[in-house]
Amino acid sequence: MKMRTHTCGDLGKEAIGQTVTLCGWVDTVRDHGGLIFIDLRDRYGLTQVIYDPAKTREAWEVAQKTRGEFVVRISGVVEARPADMVNPKLATGEIEVRGSTIEILNASATIPFPLEEKQAQKVQEDLRLQYRYLDLRRTVMQQRLRLRHRVAHAVRAYLDTHDFIEIETPILTKSTPEGARDYLVPSRVVPGSFFALPQAPQQYKQLLMVSGMDRYFQMARCFRDEDLRSDRQPEFTQIDMEMSFITADDLIEIVDGMMAEVLRATGLQAPALPLPRMTYREAMDRFGSDKPDIRFGMEIIDFGDAFAATAFKVFAGVLADGGVVRAINAKGLGGVPARVMDEWTEAARQRGLGGLAYIRVQDDGGWKSPIVKFFSDAEKEALAGRLGIEPGDLILFGAGEWEQVSVALGHLRLLAGEMAGAIPEDEFRFTWVVDFPLFERTAEGGLTPMHHPFTSPKPEDFALLDTAPGDARAQAYDLVLNGVEIGGGSIRIHDPAVQARMFEILGIDAEEAQERFGHLLKGLSFGAPPHGGIAFGFDRLVMLLAGCETIRDVIAFPKSQKAMDLMMAAPSKVDAHQLRDVYLRLNLPEAEPEA
Ligand code: AMO
Ligand code: AMP
Repeated sequence: MKMRTHTCGDLGKEAIGQTVTLCGWVDTVRDHGGLIFIDLRDRYGLTQVIYDPAKTREAWEVAQKTRGEFVVRISGVVEARPADMVNPKLATGEIEVRGSTIEILNASATIPFPLEEKQAQKVQEDLRLQYRYLDLRRTVMQQRLRLRHRVAHAVRAYLDTHDFIEIETPILTKSTPEGARDYLVPSRVVPGSFFALPQAPQQYKQLLMVSGMDRYFQMARCFRDEDLRSDRQPEFTQIDMEMSFITADDLIEIVDGMMAEVLRATGLQAPALPLPRMTYREAMDRFGSDKPDIRFGMEIIDFGDAFAATAFKVFAGVLADGGVVRAINAKGLGGVPARVMDEWTEAARQRGLGGLAYIRVQDDGGWKSPIVKFFSDAEKEALAGRLGIEPGDLILFGAGEWEQVSVALGHLRLLAGEMAGAIPEDEFRFTWVVDFPLFERTAEGGLTPMHHPFTSPKPEDFALLDTAPGDARAQAYDLVLNGVEIGGGSIRIHDPAVQARMFEILGIDAEEAQERFGHLLKGLSFGAPPHGGIAFGFDRLVMLLAGCETIRDVIAFPKSQKAMDLMMAAPSKVDAHQLRDVYLRLNLPEAEPEA
């Protein structure tokens, strides 16, 4: 005999008259004039079961004793609901089960927070994480994990049909630089030595290309000890890919197809292909970000030429110094309170600008701003024309060094877009960003790879490595969805001499390069094919598809904002003998004296 004949989401009109057995959790139990109504819940749905004391006294007595989250097994006959009781929102809303038996399989202690959606939303996230197994009983959480599964499934199927093979790479490994701090694991066998958990399987996948695997992928766990944000976890999953004998265009084409497939598989409208591409320079120029949200306009417009001979000293000074004067039209925000303008001015200052000039366009079309009096008619005309100025608009100016202006206006564009309600929430807009700079400047003035040190320069920029490495562009590409960087990759360096030169530019001397990357340099020396790849933040992709604000919502057991597993209470102290085994002694900072 089976434990159950159906799930709680199965039964419809066609089942009327059948005797069924269901198992699940008591979602709610109500007493209506003696009749006991139980909503029975499992992963598949909710079914209403009714116990009538006049017909099945014994079962009714047991039903009466059940409480929320008890686990029960019921049986009874499926009946049509009275017409006025039909619930069209529920898959099983046309029927109910007349319960004849009920068996309590397990009781439940009183749960620490309500699972009902509206109420659950008000619960502190830390409490939900502490009892994550209960939190995961919520229908929305189950839907999100199902969506995650479906995306993974679609990715695997797509890559399989394109000749990729899934290969697992080690978790206990050696530091691979992706720009974060490593998680370290002390070795018992080799005293004083440490494994690092992989920040990404980067070097393994390149070495798999040296092996001739041709096309690799992996749903890879990655570990990075960095400051957490809503879209960052210390432990996350990448869709990690690498291919041999390809150009960037080949890879982009494969990925375009994969994204279309993922959207289709999750019931969304697939994007038109090819997905749009823009260079890093264009992304910064137009959107002030290397992860542009192209769901709305308010683009950055250049006015360097229009203000070349301006009487407004701030702009004239900046242009004379080789800077830029740019503006965005925050459409419809001409009436924002002064408080907001103060916050936005502060945001511009924090990003290096001297201030934030702005114009409020009045309802009668007049421009309200202390700086307009300095503008010539030609300057005003240029503004009105290029920014499409209309009554009620707000014009924000950024003047200064190119990157600072881009970043500041890019930031304000997002704030303005959100405030104006200009960002459609149900659209999925992808864009590639290509031709990234190979390096960026560190705070100390040195060079650091913008992607990672295995990224190849663009062939036409190879010569710059010797003359002006800071100007070299990389064969690197990011895929951006709705303003979130969901993936990044590059064509790699396959020539060990170029790789060694790269380390040299980064200030890694030959000895250190051998120590840290000798395995890769050696691997490249044995006939490495030209190769390239990409990795996607799987959690981020699912977060966007699920319409969530944080990747924690699409990870079964995420870390808290303080990088802790609150359910397992990890990290935690270990026994002295465990420390001795791995030759460690704690050297904790003195506790701060109580104030
Ligand atoms: P990168 O460091 O850009 O590239 O990572 C690839 C993608 O992984 C996601 N991601 C994260 N998601 C959640 N939490 C984090 N802490 C986190 N960090 C990164 C992002 C990002 O785009 N080895 C290279 C890839 C390659 O060159 O093939 C790499 O790891 O969505
Ligand atoms: P000031 O002459 O410094 O009083 O500035 C005149 C106006 O220009 C003020 O509204 C400032 O906020 C603004 N402003 C100053 N520096 C910049 C800048 N770098 N970019 C944009 N606006 C600026």
